[in-house]
Amino acid sequence: MIIQLMLNLIRAVAERWQLEISFRSNTIQLRGTNLLNFAMQTAREAGGILIDRLGRALQVSNKGDIDLVTEADLASEKLIIERIKSYYPRHAVLAEESGASDASEKSEWKWIIDPLDGTTNYAHGYPCFCVSIALEHNGKIELGVVYCPTRDEMFAAERGRGSTLNERQIRVSNTEELNAALLCTGFPYNVRERPNFTRDFENFTMNSQAVRRDGSAALDLAYVACGRFDGLWEEGLKVWDVAAGAILIEEAGGTVTNFQGAPLDICTPQVYAPKVLVSNGLIHDAMMRVLRM
Ligand code: IPD
Ligand code: CA
Ligand code: CA
Repeated sequence: MIIQLMLNLIRAVAERWQLEISFRSNTIQLRGTNLLNFAMQTAREAGGILIDRLGRALQVSNKGDIDLVTEADLASEKLIIERIKSYYPRHAVLAEESGASDASEKSEWKWIIDPLDGTTNYAHGYPCFCVSIALEHNGKIELGVVYCPTRDEMFAAERGRGSTLNERQIRVSNTEELNAALLCTGFPYNVRERPNFTRDFENFTMNSQAVRRDGSAALDLAYVACGRFDGLWEEGLKVWDVAAGAILIEEAGGTVTNFQGAPLDICTPQVYAPKVLVSNGLIHDAMMRVLRM
């Protein structure tokens, strides 16, 4: 009983001061840490798991008609959740494959995880996929990391501190004209039930320099943050696809809204994110005009 009380007290102190707590060789260690470093290290480790299994004959199951999950998604998510439970045991978790943790109602902190974004690419050996981890505090995303293990690229952002790619500051592009913009989008898994979505694709293709469709929304958003893409629109995304990428773009000077131009409230929906429109800010109005065509 007393031991339990002491443990609770230590956990509360650790949470209050954002200390790492670990239990090793009968001792309790509290270490000052940076949540962003923790997220980066964990994403890197999870990325290692994806690379280890890439190209092997993996068990693949279908969540929907064309929506897959592989052993690698599950192994990556398991590692990430284990790390969070060990260092931040009172934090809640919302992860794609296992859903919301029990602590979800009680904790101010929530990790939002996509252990493998781009599963279809991964299952085909197409090297465009990533790990996405974000941390929400009292309903606001405070940090996000997107790690692409095939290119060893770590995108990271913390509210008020800018965005980085492999520790170098990044900014969105300065393309001013939609006509000169390289855009990106993705197709939701229920695309077969949404025949009208091709209208936007066609309109953007006719009004921009080019449109790409790479199959990893989190990575696409990170590419907007570093200026490789000038803008992106997409519907049917879930919160774990968007949470990390959105803060990367905001902290890199870009704009993140819904299709009507209203700020995106990522945390309110538990799972489904609103339709997402992101850009370098300069072409945002022009993109909205295309969506109204
Ligand atoms: C998918 C990818 C894809 C997007 C889908 C997502 P998953 O995530 O991000 O680019 O178009 O809507 O569900 O299933 O590979 O984690
Ligand atoms: Ca995803
Ligand atoms: Ca996924």
